[in-house]
Amino acid sequence: MNTRKLGSKVMHWLGLTAAGVLLAASAHAAGITATKHNLSTTGTGTNHVTTGTDQICVFCHTPHGSNTSAAVPLWNKNIPTTATYQLYSTLNTSSLNGEVLAVGSVSMACLSCHDGTQAMDNMMNAPGAGGFNASGARPAGWVWTGANQTAGSLTGAITNLGADLKNDHPIGIAYCGGGLTGAAGVVSGTCADGDFISPAIASTSDGRTATFKTATINTNQVFWIDLDASGTRGKADINLYTRTFAAGANRPSVECGSCHDPHVESKGSDNVMFMRVTTAASKICLSCHVK
Ligand code: HEC
Ligand code: HEC
Ligand code: HEC
Ligand code: HEC
Repeated sequence: MNTRKLGSKVMHWLGLTAAGVLLAASAHAAGITATKHNLSTTGTGTNHVTTGTDQICVFCHTPHGSNTSAAVPLWNKNIPTTATYQLYSTLNTSSLNGEVLAVGSVSMACLSCHDGTQAMDNMMNAPGAGGFNASGARPAGWVWTGANQTAGSLTGAITNLGADLKNDHPIGIAYCGGGLTGAAGVVSGTCADGDFISPAIASTSDGRTATFKTATINTNQVFWIDLDASGTRGKADINLYTRTFAAGANRPSVECGSCHDPHVESKGSDNVMFMRVTTAASKICLSCHVK
């Protein structure tokens, strides 16, 4: 073996090792355990229980007896019907194009804590035997700590979005002004608002490849913006959620989960806030808006 070959072998080995170390490091950093969404007794964020449970998922999901009143994944909480949400669209900015739906979809799941109207340990199926309550209830004797909550409900800080969503980025809004539909992997229609990643625009204005994708999974039409060129939906992509607009069923909508992944707090050094794409250089915004 000549030195060049040996060199390349060493480089190869080093490369693999470095990748291995990176993987191990990011796998560790990516976990929900170290985030503000660990509300269990092991939580290290501002708010969590000091007496209750060391289970993490149970504050949001249950394997059995979940809430089926909205399209939310195995949701373990009551979904507030008392809150009357005020929508961004009621500000009537002259530039808004897309139809806006009542708050629903996955955004309801986020707001079942973030509108501040109900305790974060409201559960339909609390840990252990006999913990089921169809309308959702707080397990007895749980104790909360943290400056941004009162008796387990978010309060005070900006993380309590409240029911007034006029001052928040629109949600339940048709993607790109509406128009796009999907069938069997084909996206058709034109955007009413052309300044968005779409079948016609396949790269971000900061030069990343971004492909608007759709597919039928089971009988559900799904939409996403593929940012890692994998062709399949993944953690690095922007999720759009399927909802029914006046123009028809199966249309892509922007919801809280389009920008946020509630399980991963950080995707870059200046990037907390559970973003799907880093906020550095506004990459998250430019993953949809072509500006
Ligand atoms: C603070 C609330 C919260 C906690 C805690 C939480 N999740 Fe989730 N999870 C959500 C929400 C909201 C969604 C839907 C968001 C979306 O569309 O990706 C979701 C979606 C999921 C999904 C389907 C989408 C995906 O990302 O694969 C799985 C699987 C999942 N959660 C597993 C877990 C597990 C396992 C735990 C505990 C280790 C956990 N979650 C803890 C809120 C939470
Ligand atoms: C079970 C209650 C609960 C649910 C459900 C929940 N959150 Fe949170 N979230 C919290 C708590 C508690 C905090 C920390 C608040 C604080 O310290 O002020 C938080 C913080 C956040 C933050 C700020 C993180 C930071 O770095 O400061 C974001 C962003 C967020 N949540 C988004 C979401 C989104 C999006 C969803 C739905 C996909 C969601 N959350 C669902 C309880 C919840
Ligand atoms: C269009 C993208 C987008 C959508 C949709 C979105 N967010 Fe955010 N959100 C962000 C960004 C970006 C930040 C980080 C802001 C910052 O760095 O101050 C953020 C921050 C937050 C925070 C922390 C607030 C703060 O400044 O400390 C919470 C809580 C939150 N989002 C919850 C939600 C919930 C709940 C929804 C749905 C009702 C939602 N978000 C929808 C982009 C979005
Ligand atoms: C998931 C895709 C997506 C992401 C990511 C996103 N937006 Fe949006 N945004 C939209 C859509 C769709 C609309 C509604 C546009 C319309 O119908 O005119 C919108 C609306 C807006 C509006 C209001 C426009 C008006 O006419 O009132 C502003 C401002 C805006 N976004 C800024 C941002 C910023 C800043 C970020 C990053 C923090 C961001 N957006 C991230 C999809 C997105």
